[in-house]
Amino acid sequence: MWLLLLPVLLLTLLFLVINKIKAKNENKPQLPPSPPKLPIIGNLHQLGSLPHQSLWKLSKSYGHVMGLHFGTVPAIVVSSAEAAKEVLKTNDLACCNRPSLTGSGKLSYNNLDITFSPYGEHWRQIRRLCVLKLFSSKSVQSFQFIRDGEIDSLNDFLNESSVLATPVNLSVMMSTLMASMTFRTAFGKRFAECGLESDVFEEMIHRAMSVLGTFAACDLFPHLGWIIDRLTGVHAKFERSFRELDNFFQIVIAEHLNRTPEEGKEDLVDLLLSIERGEYDSTEVHFTRDCTKAIIMDIFVAGVDTAALTVTWAMAELARNPRVMKKVQDEIRSCLKKSKVTESDIHQLQYLKMVVKETLRLHPAAPLLLPRECISQFKVGGYEVYPKTFIHVNVWAIGRDPNYWYNPEEFFPERFADSSIDFKGQHFEYLPFGAGRRGCPGMIMALTMVELTLANLLCCFDWKLSAGMKETDIDMEEASGITTFKKSALKLVPVSYQWPSKLQT
Ligand code: HEM
Repeated sequence: MWLLLLPVLLLTLLFLVINKIKAKNENKPQLPPSPPKLPIIGNLHQLGSLPHQSLWKLSKSYGHVMGLHFGTVPAIVVSSAEAAKEVLKTNDLACCNRPSLTGSGKLSYNNLDITFSPYGEHWRQIRRLCVLKLFSSKSVQSFQFIRDGEIDSLNDFLNESSVLATPVNLSVMMSTLMASMTFRTAFGKRFAECGLESDVFEEMIHRAMSVLGTFAACDLFPHLGWIIDRLTGVHAKFERSFRELDNFFQIVIAEHLNRTPEEGKEDLVDLLLSIERGEYDSTEVHFTRDCTKAIIMDIFVAGVDTAALTVTWAMAELARNPRVMKKVQDEIRSCLKKSKVTESDIHQLQYLKMVVKETLRLHPAAPLLLPRECISQFKVGGYEVYPKTFIHVNVWAIGRDPNYWYNPEEFFPERFADSSIDFKGQHFEYLPFGAGRRGCPGMIMALTMVELTLANLLCCFDWKLSAGMKETDIDMEEASGITTFKKSALKLVPVSYQWPSKLQT
């Protein structure tokens, strides 16, 4: 009898144990697949100098939702439109913090913590004010005269270079142009009127950007990293670069407080000071001097390089693709029949707009967007994401994914003809300005600067390669950094365009 019962008992026991293990596994939170990591540094060694490209390659093995560790900090990287939608739309609210510079100990000098983290009512109100009062199309239009003046100076310079038939460094020129446009829009003055050389100010901004773009020990090891940063002097270096900008802003703001701007000629600092005085909003927004400074800082850090590198990549792609170059120039010249493009002309230039869209698909200025930080637990692709996890969306990889784009590596602006895809963050296969609560608030200003500049470069000049160069010699390699600059400077020879008949001016 016992001999008969024993196997039955054993089998029942086995069945129960297997069921228990199965239930445990089913209830166990599913974590995203992850490449093997090393102790202490996690997956840092797999990032290389161009993280978006390395992460794209890793995603081919580990999937479009990948878990990693940057030092001890957990992160997920999403590389498909579907997963991007889950992060930026479905779970936008659960992950709309930015990792804070002061919170991590990167800076103790906290009044320029550009991200206004953490997300909350105060952040929301400030963002709403900025979008309405600073970045709306009405506000952007009011600074048209500044961009117009800067374009005149650009055209004059290029006409002189055309006479000499020498190549111009478009990478440097675009940085200076965008910095000058932004400087005058923010402060109402030219660099020289503030006793500055343009490159001195650009250097200040770049130093501040490197604080954002480089990993400090405190970013990777939140508990102890700050000690290393203090011992190595990294912390002091970061503080110095933010302090020098803060001092500069302080002087400009003091000047603005001592004058009454002419009506209709207010600059961004005037607008911000009137917001501080509560002139713009009936609700009680706690808008302090530090908010004013932080927003000016945001505008420079987020707006100058991104716009400059977009025009540079567009010119590089056009120089490599003479068919597209000719088509876009023909559109501008035949449509406008005049020697300078103004902002009110741009809406007629449909192919130019496609060229800009295609440039931003292949060369999004922020290839991994800006990192978000998870606030409350949510799921993406069926995997669990926990609070404090960093989230990166690889829009560079999504923009080159053959699942969404035909011949993705080809520069082919026509792909946007008869397509409803736009920049507004509703088409998750195309996200050059991000999406959701943290999407780029400066998009209208950015597109205005980029389209106007590009249209003028193409209307007034033909562009030749330097002697002995072929189209295929143009180097399209990217430089490392938080934004994707072209690694080698783009040098082209401008040739003033000779209009066939009498011109309108
Ligand atoms: C072609 C030019 C530009 C591109 C491609 C671009 C792209 C982006 C992207 C991808 C983000 C991150 C969005 C996200 O994480 O979802 C961002 C954030 C931001 N951009 Fe832009 N941007 C450009 C120009 C500008 C300009 C001209 C300004 C200001 C005048 C600006 C202001 C900002 C600010 C303040 C943020 C941070 C938003 C936040 O954290 O809530 N950007 N931009």
